[in-house]
Amino acid sequence: MLVKKPPCIKSSEITDKKLYMNRRQFIVGSTALVTSGLIHSSSFQETEEKSKQKLKVAKRGEHMVKEKVTSFDEATSYTNFYEFSTGKRSVKKLSQSFRTRPWTLSVEGEVKQPKKFDIEELIHMFPLEERVYRWRCVEAWSMVIPWIGFSLAGFIKKCEPTSKAKYVEFTTLYDPDQMPGLSAPVLDWPYVEGLRMDEAMHPLALVAVGMYDELLPNQNGAPIRLVIPWKYGFKSIKSTVKVRFVQKMPKSSWVRKKPEEYGFFGNVNPNVDHPRWTQATERRIGEEGRRKTPMFNGYADQVSQLYTGMNLRKFY
Ligand code: MTE
Repeated sequence: MLVKKPPCIKSSEITDKKLYMNRRQFIVGSTALVTSGLIHSSSFQETEEKSKQKLKVAKRGEHMVKEKVTSFDEATSYTNFYEFSTGKRSVKKLSQSFRTRPWTLSVEGEVKQPKKFDIEELIHMFPLEERVYRWRCVEAWSMVIPWIGFSLAGFIKKCEPTSKAKYVEFTTLYDPDQMPGLSAPVLDWPYVEGLRMDEAMHPLALVAVGMYDELLPNQNGAPIRLVIPWKYGFKSIKSTVKVRFVQKMPKSSWVRKKPEEYGFFGNVNPNVDHPRWTQATERRIGEEGRRKTPMFNGYADQVSQLYTGMNLRKFY
């Protein structure tokens, strides 16, 4: 059985004391059929209150990286969410009053029938799993984060795509009243990302609704986001409102912005540098020095077959 961390590292050394103590109180179900979802999910209004909401996790133990988990504070204070700000340390404050309820996720395109899912319905639809993943940003910093969510493959099955669906396109909310960063033409808004169907169906692809046993904080993409651990962070779209099944490769926001710097695949690849910096090494947040970046962010055993025969210099 995989363990979350080596026995030499105490949980109390990894996260702050308060959080560590809180983690001990979480309810862990023994089977995937244990009821999942929020405790008092209707009661939160304010972010402060919301961040105290705990998630019931039905399954832990699969897809756990045996490396030191990044502190909750770092993972939630150093964030990329350009709809609020391009300043990583500014997003948290600017997103505090972002409204994540009510929230609807629309499913469109090549599906048997278009659907709309309410966020509460989605959270209760699948048993929630904790997955501790390596998290690598294209800007060459990395973290290890315990995400909570459900498999994207399971969600896609519920969407009933037709055989014409070759890619999935995801779109973030566009709401200039709530998102001050949208006033700057940094990207072609709304934020759009995409995956090839086989990538989206891979068991590692996660739809996250929480992290560190709590609901996703706004700055980390509440109420629902992707986490694709073998790809650079920009593929993991936040605060998603639309999922569209399509025949052609979607034009993601980053590819539209700078195709010479950001490709559709966005796979972590130490052998293909970003034009402005190396991708061979990374700075693990909370550590001194740099460490070598592994191919596919350390998930090569599990995902490399998705790219057999592809020239990864061309399809970056
Ligand atoms: N999604 C949206 N909608 N807007 C963004 O600016 N930034 C991406 C990705 N998803 C982004 C987004 C980038 S560049 C990264 S590295 C990750 O989110 C950061 O996720 P984190 O802040 O939870 O670490």
